[in-house]
Amino acid sequence: MLYFIGFGVAVVAPLLWLSQDKQQRPPGPRRFPLLGNVLDISVDDIWLLFSRWGKEYGSLVYIKIFNQPTLIINSHHIAVDLMTRRARVYSDRPWNYVAKELLLGGHFMPFMDYNDRCRRLRRAAQEGFRKATLPRYRKIQQAEATRAASELLQHSANWVEHLSTTAASTIMSSVYGFPPTDDKNPDVQAIKQHTERIARAIFPGTYLVDTFPWLRHLPAWLCSWHRDTHGFYAKDNAVVQRLFHSSETGPAVTFSRAVAEKVDEGLLDDGDAAWLCATLLQTSAALCWFITSMVIHQDVQARAHDELDRVVGRNRLPSFDDKDNLPYLNAIVHEVLRWRPPLPIGVPHCLAVNDVYQGFHVARGTVCIPNIWGMNRDPDVWGTDAEMFRPERQLDEHGNLRSRILNTHDESHTSFGFGNRVCPGKHFAGDTMFITCATILWACKMSASRNVHGDLELPSEYAHTGTPMTLHPTPFPCEFSARFSDALSQVSTERNTE
Ligand code: HEM
Repeated sequence: MLYFIGFGVAVVAPLLWLSQDKQQRPPGPRRFPLLGNVLDISVDDIWLLFSRWGKEYGSLVYIKIFNQPTLIINSHHIAVDLMTRRARVYSDRPWNYVAKELLLGGHFMPFMDYNDRCRRLRRAAQEGFRKATLPRYRKIQQAEATRAASELLQHSANWVEHLSTTAASTIMSSVYGFPPTDDKNPDVQAIKQHTERIARAIFPGTYLVDTFPWLRHLPAWLCSWHRDTHGFYAKDNAVVQRLFHSSETGPAVTFSRAVAEKVDEGLLDDGDAAWLCATLLQTSAALCWFITSMVIHQDVQARAHDELDRVVGRNRLPSFDDKDNLPYLNAIVHEVLRWRPPLPIGVPHCLAVNDVYQGFHVARGTVCIPNIWGMNRDPDVWGTDAEMFRPERQLDEHGNLRSRILNTHDESHTSFGFGNRVCPGKHFAGDTMFITCATILWACKMSASRNVHGDLELPSEYAHTGTPMTLHPTPFPCEFSARFSDALSQVSTERNTE
């Protein structure tokens, strides 16, 4: 066995290296034999490195992670050309053994190639969260937004936890029909931890076996990927299955009920369906960036308060019926998602067949990483001040939300991804963002805390935590005060009547 590995590393890998590098490739940083650029990418904030490379080498940057050809896409225009216009070619997912097989038992649609099985699961997700279906979740979203505003006014210190609870509870109620829950709920914790484990495992270069598939034949005791993942799938699968099947006896109109019907009709596999319902919770990061932006940009907050006073008044809470009349608030939501994308390097795509683009050869199996962070500040699309948080950029000269910014499907950012793999939860996430931001702004004035000398301690707009794939602001002390005398009592009354 050791001879086999030695032979692989010493002879086969360099031969592969030499034989594959003769085609015309996009420019990129210098690659080292065997390692490629793996040492370059072992940095924090990889999206900043990709953006720097974009400036140095151009919008398309070619690197290798060990032997894995990888294309980094830094321009919005090229991302649309490849992942949307050539979606037939660019919609698979990279080979991934550790996350996909060991942690998820092969059931997780976001990591499947774009085959029939994936298409059926995507269709189920899209039906469950398409625009026409969204009204069925709005009561839940509104109730959670009211609860968040009430908690923020009464217990400001735990603001990150409240927003995390809101995002988790909204999704648990909409997907499984559960009553409101909180962030400490063991099932919510299990799904969060499992999402974090996956985000760590899929970071490029983390596990050798994801680049050299033959390593999966090694005995388990030799491999860190077996040690790191041991027991998690069985544990997580038990939670996911229990949640999925418990919803059979809950309310009739939930996402998981709709998905379960497709299992009964023989259209979906039971295991795939259960895991589809436990997919991704990124909305809490976006809500936390919303608070950060409001604390830093008091002028924006004041303008949003004016709009709410004009359109909604102070005698009732905002509702979804107000959405079309609150262009500035919608602009804030779009700008938060543009400025701080929760998944700054998206989810990598992969080529199903060879392609040629701008004279460059892009081989089948090449991994494409969309640098969403970089694209959202592409000066050709968002202007030279793209680095700044400025909701006005999302409005036209009449103060209306811009109907379309170049192929962004009316979102004015690329934070929900591309083409056939675009996020199926984007309208649902957008609705959750709208009603939560509107309700918090209606009830609260947000400001930085003062230090012992009485000076305001503004948070850094760059400080962040999260896994190497996700972007979450570093928690900071923040004050939430009632914007007018009976704001809290109105929120509490509304909360108690729900
Ligand atoms: C602000 C919140 C969210 C953001 C920023 C976000 C972003 C993304 C991104 C960037 C992708 C990858 C797209 C691509 O491959 O090009 C994705 C995929 C996905 N998202 Fe979201 N998402 C959010 C919320 C949600 C929610 C609430 C749900 C479910 C209700 C959801 C379900 C999914 C699924 C199932 C996929 C996999 C799609 C596929 O692989 O075909 N997302 N999301």
